[in-house]
Amino acid sequence: MAVQPIRLFGDPVLRTPAEPVRDFDKELRKLVADLTETMLDAPGSGLAAPQIGVGLRVFTYNVDDVVGHLINPRLDLSEEEQFGPEGCLSIPGFSFDCRRALRVVAKGYNMHGDPVTLEGSELLARCIQHETDHLDGVLFVDRLDREARKAALRAIRETEWGNAGPPEVRVSPHATLGRAL
Ligand code: NI
Repeated sequence: MAVQPIRLFGDPVLRTPAEPVRDFDKELRKLVADLTETMLDAPGSGLAAPQIGVGLRVFTYNVDDVVGHLINPRLDLSEEEQFGPEGCLSIPGFSFDCRRALRVVAKGYNMHGDPVTLEGSELLARCIQHETDHLDGVLFVDRLDREARKAALRAIRETEWGNAGPPEVRVSPHATLGRAL
């Protein structure tokens, strides 16, 4: 297990849809361990595999002292919404109010391949939606209202890391059968 570097806004891996997990093997369990350790070290309330450069549909969460993970998630969202502050370890130092469904039922698998249902409201629901977005190459700033999004992107561009050139090519720490990015 090891803490991995977190990819920042502008890294193309964050814009690349991740592939479903097919092999529930030792490598996957190592990925979940690395994601969990990296998330807790940051610390953050969630982390998705693309954020450490692995293009697989896996995320971890850490909400109200409950730490877990979900693989190949499928979400069922409530119509009722919430509007509140959200942040992202790939956009460090920023928080913007973002609209999300208030409740979510997420179905997927654990790292052993057993079916799992994860139900959450408020912060956990926000986290599940945010992390699942990462697996589709979507960042939370994409979901802001138009004016707020423009202001957010302007602020991000003014940071040192938000205005970097093309990122250097890095090698994923995980052998993911050609799915690493
Ligand atoms: Ni994020």
